[in-house]
Amino acid sequence: MESLTNWSAKNPYSSKITENYVLNGEGSRKETRHVVFDLGDSGLDYKVGDALGVIPENPQSLVDRIIELQNWNPEEIVNAGKGEKSLRESLKKDVEVHRANKKFIQSLKDKIISSGMNIQVKMTSRNRKSIDGELILEWSDDADQEIELNRSIPSDDPASKSRYLYDNPDALEDYIWSRDYIDVIEEFDIRYTPEEFLTLADNLKPRLYSIASSHDAHPGFVELTVGIVRYHHHGRDRGGLATVYMADELAMSGKEVGIFMSPTKSFVLPEDPDTDIIMVGPGTGIAPFRAFMEQRVHDKASGRNWLIFGDQSEKTEFYYKETILNWLDNGELDYFTTAWSRDQEEKIYVQNRMAEHGEEIWKWIDNGAYFYVCGDKTYMAKDVHRTLIEIVETHGGLSKDDATTYVEKRMMKEEKRYLRDVY
Ligand SMILES: Cc1cc2nc3c(=O)[nH]c(=O)nc-3n(C[C@H](O)[C@H](O)[C@H](O)COP(=O)(O)OP(=O)(O)OC[C@H]3O[C@@H](n4cnc5c(N)ncnc54)[C@H](O)[C@@H]3O)c2cc1C
Ligand SMILES: NC(=O)c1ccc[n+]([C@@H]2O[C@H](COP(=O)([O-])OP(=O)(O)OC[C@H]3O[C@@H](n4cnc5c(N)ncnc54)[C@H](OP(=O)(O)O)[C@@H]3O)[C@@H](O)[C@H]2O)c1
Repeated sequence: MESLTNWSAKNPYSSKITENYVLNGEGSRKETRHVVFDLGDSGLDYKVGDALGVIPENPQSLVDRIIELQNWNPEEIVNAGKGEKSLRESLKKDVEVHRANKKFIQSLKDKIISSGMNIQVKMTSRNRKSIDGELILEWSDDADQEIELNRSIPSDDPASKSRYLYDNPDALEDYIWSRDYIDVIEEFDIRYTPEEFLTLADNLKPRLYSIASSHDAHPGFVELTVGIVRYHHHGRDRGGLATVYMADELAMSGKEVGIFMSPTKSFVLPEDPDTDIIMVGPGTGIAPFRAFMEQRVHDKASGRNWLIFGDQSEKTEFYYKETILNWLDNGELDYFTTAWSRDQEEKIYVQNRMAEHGEEIWKWIDNGAYFYVCGDKTYMAKDVHRTLIEIVETHGGLSKDDATTYVEKRMMKEEKRYLRDVY
């Protein structure tokens, strides 16, 4: 059943977090949290496979520092397209201030020129001269002319630097990767009006999270498995907007947070509860499969369940260990395969385990099993895809081309039983 209400990204429900704890053991390099939201009287419903939209806010410390550096009046009433409010509130809720964007950096060039900072650097001139056939470079002191710094040479002079970033998309990407507006404002010593800044900054966007609970198992609540994004650049701790907001600012503060449902049409359990399912979900990719298992247990589905999970170390990343062991004990989870990537010299990933169990995986698939993948889109999902084709080729006795057609056309497109939730 879908949501009966019209809560949406534009009209989110104000929820509260009722549980928020770290799933990792001591000594982990990661911070992965289990976060529970109260659905209260919202009337919101969801099915397993759906995602939850979370509306984050910027860290107050960043907002205050930008205001201070720009010497703005925080109480000035502004409108960044989401209604009139104070500048301080608008910077907290309407635009993303935790990372500098391209538009802002590209605006620096003209801003610097218009503010009279277009510094022309004086250089002595350099001549080539031949003495006795030998070519030498001679530096002369009397060059009065002002020579603009060569465009291809990054320089500390703000005008040249802004032009260099403007002209070089790769350098621009590199530059913004590790910087926020505070870094840029300090580095270029530049002033914008609040209106200019709000126009240039990106609108604040909600983040989606695969729901990690079945509503039947947790009526009135929705639960997530969230990998908190934290990093350190240029002497400051920084992080992802929504994840750090949930981990640090919301935590268990009782503060309200805007949420909405993002229903899936495709990432669903098989209609027939007798159908077997294989779930590949390393890291936070386990989220929807916790929900799938809860639903299959609740529904007393008779199809077999196989979970292939992995992360860095069994000691610190065995998320939902007790629950998983209970499912195994109760015969609700038929197979549980793990890939602890850093518990031995060589990396072991979920696709390595899939290959080891290739024959059995093929038997399940040949018998009509659904095959699900959730987690990292960039590397893991591609490697798992390749491995699945290899399994079909090796154990199904098909040519490479036929195995690819089987996986990509038959399983994925026609039968819709190879389903992915990757990000
Ligand atoms: C359908 C869907 C389901 C999802 N499900 C989940 C889920 O279940 N659990 C989960 O945790 N996430 C999930 N995600 C990802 C989630 O939506 C967010 O993208 C993620 O939590 C990061 O959001 P953030 O606001 O904290 O980070 P952002 O502020 O969006 O920043 C993330 C960006 O930070 C940058 N970054 C990362 N590390 C560094 C570094 N060291 N230096 C500089 N920059 C860096 C990267 O460019 C990265 O894209 C899902 C995404 C989708 C689309
Ligand atoms: N958009 C965002 O900002 C954001 C936020 C959170 C997560 N993510 C991404 O979402 C994914 C999930 O993050 P996560 O912390 O839950 O887990 P993760 O980083 O994907 O790690 C889970 C496990 O997968 C392993 N792994 C690494 N490369 C792999 C590959 N090519 N194939 C198979 N397994 C591989 C990891 O091993 P090793 O670590 O030992 O290599 C680890 O054991 C990551 O890619 C992460 O970057 C993105």
